[in-house]
Amino acid sequence: MRRRGARGGGGQSRGGEATEGNHATYTRGEIVEHYASRSGLQPGEGVLIDRWLDAITGSVFLDIGVGGGRTTGVIAALTQRYVGVDYSAPLIEAARRRYPERDLRWADARDLAEFEDEEFSVVWFSFNGIDSVGDDDRRQILGEIRRVVRPGGLFLFSTHNRDVATFDRLPWRRRPRVTRTYARSVVQAVRRLPRIVRMRRQVVHTADYAQINDDAHDYTLLMYYIDRFAQARQLGECGFELVEVSSQGGRPLADSEVDRASVWLHYVARRVP
Ligand SMILES: C[S@@+](CC[C@H](N)C(=O)[O-])C[C@H]1O[C@@H](n2cnc3c(N)ncnc32)[C@H](O)[C@@H]1O
Repeated sequence: MRRRGARGGGGQSRGGEATEGNHATYTRGEIVEHYASRSGLQPGEGVLIDRWLDAITGSVFLDIGVGGGRTTGVIAALTQRYVGVDYSAPLIEAARRRYPERDLRWADARDLAEFEDEEFSVVWFSFNGIDSVGDDDRRQILGEIRRVVRPGGLFLFSTHNRDVATFDRLPWRRRPRVTRTYARSVVQAVRRLPRIVRMRRQVVHTADYAQINDDAHDYTLLMYYIDRFAQARQLGECGFELVEVSSQGGRPLADSEVDRASVWLHYVARRVP
């Protein structure tokens, strides 16, 4: 077992100050309400889970970043054993209230010391939860997941797609069709300009990844974006082999396909023994 670190709920890394802000967002009342009111799988997740149903059915499953328990009902029913964790105390409390019969715990993915080596056969970090931390912490999370998943076990996750055509563009730079939704996004961005300008100081762009302030939760977050090829390399460096990349809607991408339409991509990786 790894020793539990002294790290608190937010964590520091490159872009660390900003990831404290992400944790703060996930503990705010209206954000907790937002996630606690969601249930069921997103369409792309549904397609993904169907494709991997044999591996998930009867598995020992760790659901990381479970938030208000959106995925708990569907996934727990398929598995032999289900554990859900989240580093936002109010979110995991909300999940527990919804599913008192389920094993739902506060835990930070950067430190999964309460779990044994090779305890799980499948680990899932859904809806871009892994993007809430910087690069060092992301690698720490991948190391922890590798430790708690069995050799040959699966790690499913989604992460923001750096190749998306709208990457790091404010609404007026997206060449949009002028619709009501577009008009609303412009108004929102104009209202939030002081915050956007402030957050710009924390933005990170490297050859392999970026951490940018996108429009999620009213421009309060700094989110990690990576392209599929850099993500494959990162997985390899962290002891996983990439099995499949699929679009936001769950369609598997061809080997060299660059998806400019998906804001995030789904990945399935296998722990290399
Ligand atoms: C985009 S929300 C998705 C919540 C939930 N999975 C859903 O789809 O409704 C991302 C979630 O990841 C959690 N999260 C982010 N970083 C985490 C970490 N280091 N350890 C555990 N949970 C984390 C957040 O608290 C938040 O609940």
